[in-house]
Amino acid sequence: MERLLIKDTINKINEPVLLKGWVHNHRRLGKMVFMDLRDRSGIIQVLFMDEMLEKANQIRPEWVVEITGKVVERTAKNKNESSPTGGVEIHATGLKILSEALTPPFPVNDETKAQETSEDLRMKYRYLDLRRSSMRGNLVLRAKVNHFIRNFLTKEDFLEVETPFLTKGTPEGAREYIVPARNFPGKFYVLPQSPQQFKQLLMIAGIEKYFQIAKCFRDEDQRADRQPEFTQLDLEISFTDQEEILNLVEKMVVGLVKETVPEKHITQTPFPRIPHKQAMEKYGTDKPDIRKDKTDKNELGFAFIIDFPLFEYSEAEKKLVPSHHLFTSPQDPEAFLHGKVKPEEALSKQYDLTLNGFEVAGGSIRIHDWKIQEKVFEILKIGKEEAEKRFGHMKKAFEYGVPPHGGIAMGLDRLIAVLAGESNIREIMAFPKTNDAKDLMTDAPTELPKAQLDEAHIQIKKK
Ligand code: AMO
Repeated sequence: MERLLIKDTINKINEPVLLKGWVHNHRRLGKMVFMDLRDRSGIIQVLFMDEMLEKANQIRPEWVVEITGKVVERTAKNKNESSPTGGVEIHATGLKILSEALTPPFPVNDETKAQETSEDLRMKYRYLDLRRSSMRGNLVLRAKVNHFIRNFLTKEDFLEVETPFLTKGTPEGAREYIVPARNFPGKFYVLPQSPQQFKQLLMIAGIEKYFQIAKCFRDEDQRADRQPEFTQLDLEISFTDQEEILNLVEKMVVGLVKETVPEKHITQTPFPRIPHKQAMEKYGTDKPDIRKDKTDKNELGFAFIIDFPLFEYSEAEKKLVPSHHLFTSPQDPEAFLHGKVKPEEALSKQYDLTLNGFEVAGGSIRIHDWKIQEKVFEILKIGKEEAEKRFGHMKKAFEYGVPPHGGIAMGLDRLIAVLAGESNIREIMAFPKTNDAKDLMTDAPTELPKAQLDEAHIQIKKK
């Protein structure tokens, strides 16, 4: 007999079936044992009687079992309307134990109790935590969002291109993770903070419309909406302008909400476009929460923030730093180049998308004239030598015909967390890290054997 998924049992009344899955829970009731069996598709009640009793009495929660039996329609008074399979049950004729299990360190069959479990314990046993229906639901939502985006952008004529993880740094403002290069003692790759430079180079390569669901790496202090590795929907378009990009993003997001979380509603469409200055004056933040009813868990308040300043003053560095990143174009490139606007007053072609008070996307129209790029370096006090060292490859590429281009990157973890109604992005990641960037399950980061360090030319400094 072929294995049947639990969700399909409702179409097999009075038929023999073979089910496989985990023991969700079980209880004895007189001369019967009731068990809830769980697989990826759902949960069903299984009934053991007579000669099946002795074996059924051995089983414990989370054991992996195989059950043969007959699907039987429940009597009207025994039907459970709250479960999709609540109209039927399985009368077991066979039980095979495929794998026994220790008692889980926290209950995976009780959502309320699992919520009360410490998050560290949940992360240490993530494979158990992910057995819970709410966690599975978050992963399903995430997969649906990815699927929607891929379809949508492919239909819009975008090409999905993968860019490397072993790279030279890209200036997104965060500290980078570094990877020693075994073949080049003393030299390092860095993991990308974003595919920013590669996507601009793809525009020079004539791809015109690129997207990627890209892993990004940033070694910064973690918060509820920040992880050391996270995922961006990254895209870039040639011969474009801000209007085209905002319209595209809005169309995608509205479609995505309709398709993946139809129970939610959007506060306002078209999404309001709020100039940065106005957002600061009215809301005191550039990530305003524009929802009408902040207690409505189904309301999604999207807004575009536009007209950002090109630079902001960094108290820590005591100098101007880019408000977005240093490839962002000023609004009036000519005036900027000829010093007709003060750098600290120059506006940029940067735009962000915010959702319920979170920044879920950021992008800009880029500089495509290297003279303007050099002017930006000058204002940022990046000397000629340093610019050559860090961005020489970009300068070279810019000598070979650059289409005007721009793009945006959406923080998928943040977007999906809000769609899922979760307040921490860890909840929608399969294997997240702690606030100090540890993986409690594998125990990474760990020390390495000396031989491996030697090969990578690494000597550990004693404290
Ligand atoms: P930016 O740095 O604004 O832009 O990043 C884009 C979006 O990525 C998300 N994000 C994060 N999510 C989780 N954890 C993090 N540590 C984290 N850091 C950022 C945010 C943010 O809006 N290359 C540019 C994009 C472009 O100009 O096209 C970039 O990376 O939701």
